Formats: sequence, C-alpha cells, structure tokens
Amino acid sequence: MAKILVTGGTGYIGSHTVVELQKKGYDVVIVDNLSNSNIEVLSGIEKITGIRPAFENIDCLDYVSLDKMFEKHSGIEAIIHFAASKAVGESVEKPLLYYRNNLGSLINLLELMPVHKVPNIVFSSSCTVYGQPDVLPVDENAPIKPALSPYGNTKQICEEIIRDTIYANPEMKAVVLRYFNPIGAHPSAEIGELPNGVPNNLLPFVTQTAIGIRSELKVFGDDYNTPDGSCIRDYINVVDLAKAHVLAVQRMLDAKNDKNIEIFNLGTGRGLSVLEIIRTFEAANHVKVPYRIVGRREGDIEQVWANPEHANKVLGWKATESVEDTLRSAWAWELKLKERRENNK
Ligand code: NAD
Ligand code: WQD
Repeated sequence: MAKILVTGGTGYIGSHTVVELQKKGYDVVIVDNLSNSNIEVLSGIEKITGIRPAFENIDCLDYVSLDKMFEKHSGIEAIIHFAASKAVGESVEKPLLYYRNNLGSLINLLELMPVHKVPNIVFSSSCTVYGQPDVLPVDENAPIKPALSPYGNTKQICEEIIRDTIYANPEMKAVVLRYFNPIGAHPSAEIGELPNGVPNNLLPFVTQTAIGIRSELKVFGDDYNTPDGSCIRDYINVVDLAKAHVLAVQRMLDAKNDKNIEIFNLGTGRGLSVLEIIRTFEAANHVKVPYRIVGRREGDIEQVWANPEHANKVLGWKATESVEDTLRSAWAWELKLKERRENNK
C-alpha cells in the first residue's frame, strides 16, 4: 500500500487520521515537532490499530531535516499536512509566529514535493475562511471574507499559496479540506484532543467543566439573532473528519480528481447552538455542566454551518456519527485523561 506522510500526525485530527489510514492498509510516516502534542499518542494509535507508525521528530520549518526525511522514507506518494499553530487568540498576540510557522511549513513541503517526486498534498483548511457567510448553509463557492485573526489569515494565504503552486506545476495535485468544528474522540478513548492550558474551544471547556477542572462554562452571548440567542456552529465528529482524509488521498492516488486542486467543506450540514450542545452533552452523559451567560466574545461569528454536498457527491464522504455519540466520546476521553492524571500521581 502507498506510503503517506502525515505532518502534525500526533496532534488531535492527525492522530485520528493516522488510525483511519492504517486501518485501510496505508503505510504512515508521521512528522511532528511535538510543540502541541505528546509522544504517548503513538502508543494510543498502536493500541487501536496494532501498528506503531514511523515517527520523525522534525520541525516542518527545518528544510534540511525534511529533505533528509524524504530520502530516508523514500516512495512517499502523498502528504496530509496538519502541522500548524492553531490558537486564534495567541495568533493575535504573536502574529509572526503564526505567519512563520503556518506559511513556512507549507512552503517547505511544496518546495520539496517535486524534488522527491511526491505529487499529492491534502491541506487542513478551515471554515474560518468564510467569516460570517451571507448565505447558509455555506458552500465552497461562497466568497472568502477578510480574516478576523492572523491564524485565519494564514489559512487563506496557505490556500492561495497552494493554488498558485499547483497552477505553476501541473504534475502536482492538492485537495483543500475546510473543516467546520471538529469535536469528540476515538470511541476507544485511546486518543483525543489534548488542549494546552485553558481551552479556547467549546467542547474541551465543556468536558473540563463537567469533570470539575473548571468551575463554570461561560456562554459567550445569548443575544444573537438565532433561535435561542447563542451562536451556531457545525460540529463534526473527528473520526468522520479523519475518514474524509483517507478518501481524499485515495482519490488523488486513483487519479479520480477532476481538477489539480479541489476544495471540500467537511461538516454535517446541521447547525447546533452553544446551549443545544450543553443540553445534549448533559443528557447523553448524565452529568451537569454548570454554565453562565456572559457577554459576546470578540470576533465570534454568529452562525455558520456547512453545505457538505460537494464532499458527499464527489468525495463519497458523509458524516455519519450522531452528535450524542460524539459527545459521549468526548466525555469518555475526559474520563480517560482523569484516570491517567491519577495514575501518574
Ligand atoms: P493540533 O495542535 O492538535 O495538531 C497540530 C500538530 O502539528 C501538533 O501535534 C503540533 O505539535 C504539530 N506542529 C505544529 N507546528 C509544527 C511544525 N512546525 N513542525 C512539525 N509539527 C508541528 O491541531 P489539530 O486540531 O489537530 O489541527 C490540525 C490542523 O487542522 C491544523 O492545521 C489546524 O489549523 C487545522 N484545523 C483545526 C481545526 C480545529 O478546530 N481543531 C479547525 C479547522 C482547521
Ligand atoms: C464554538 C462556539 C463560542 C468557548 C474556532 C476558530 C476557528 C476554528 C475552530 C480552526 C462559539 C462558544 C466557546 C467557551 C462559548 N479553528 N464558546 N464558551 O469559534 O467556531 O472557531 O475554532 O480553524 O478558526 O476561530 O470555535 O470552539 O472556540 O467556539 O460559549 O468557553 O462556542 O462563542 O459560539 P469557533 P470555538
């Protein structure tokens, strides 16, 4: 089976994708500098699939080490590029760190692809490129809106860099995947999200509040123009999301892509409010999530959810996990983290 390079493969979405690739028989090489993940993730992957993936502790900004890595693991046929810095708030404080890491890592890979005859790349983009869409659900033809953060801007610029590079190099192919809001964990609870410090994202904050690490969840605004006044997002199960990457790689390897660059929304097509998420989480897991309504968070989008039809029809991908099961997997993962903390005492 084909050899696939997964950058950021010990991270949240990357680790779930490595599992799905291995389950389909792909040979995986992970490159990660562990700046936002842990080496123990490799054991979690191994427990699920029985295979410990090849791992290289390399910074994607290090061109020379990446070059050597391609020599060592010769025959890589596709790259799935997850490695990036992703904290929106931090990107406002440290914009250059974000521009350097997210743009520089991508540029190094794109430069090395022709050198090592790697024709295919899948790129992790985000629904953040749409800002607040004028039409909902949002499809891939919707206009790109001015970015609300340096992080969001890196995703827009990276998409442009890929487009220009593919145009100039007809032997290269790319699939750009725009994720909506990935949540949950592997059903085995062997891998999941490892938020660094105080979580920014909703779900880790919900699970940490339910388990008592945080005293209460702050709901950022209940005065939006939505049915219950809280913001609406399209929450997508991380394993469903991971499976889309396998299909994207397979599509390029089978030369089934219509164009050398294709873009897909990855979401469920359903929007849920913050209050609906809290209520569903409580009911699915029989736990309370103490919360308080506070003011709006600066820069928040009021409501966004995907039109995933293009991915459904062309990629043959559809989100299948229920939100209840997904929220149960998030809770099982939080309980697993607690168990690990207690065992390490
Ligand atoms: P993550 O932080 O869990 O994973 C990213 C991994 O990349 C980490 O393991 C980190 O150590 C590694 N990394 C970062 N910079 C690196 C570098 N220079 N060299 C090598 N490794 C490096 O994040 P995630 O949630 O799994 O996100 C994966 C990708 O998906 C990112 O590109 C992110 O921007 C994108 N994305 C994430 C979300 C989300 O909500 N999680 C939404 C849309 C898009
Ligand atoms: C979801 C909803 C909050 C925390 C961010 C990035 C975006 C993308 C995904 C990568 C919002 C509300 C949250 C809390 C709350 N990442 N909330 N209390 O804002 O959709 O997007 O992550 O590309 O770029 O901006 O996700 O999980 O932060 O918030 O009420 O403590 O939960 O207001 O409505 P968001 P999120």
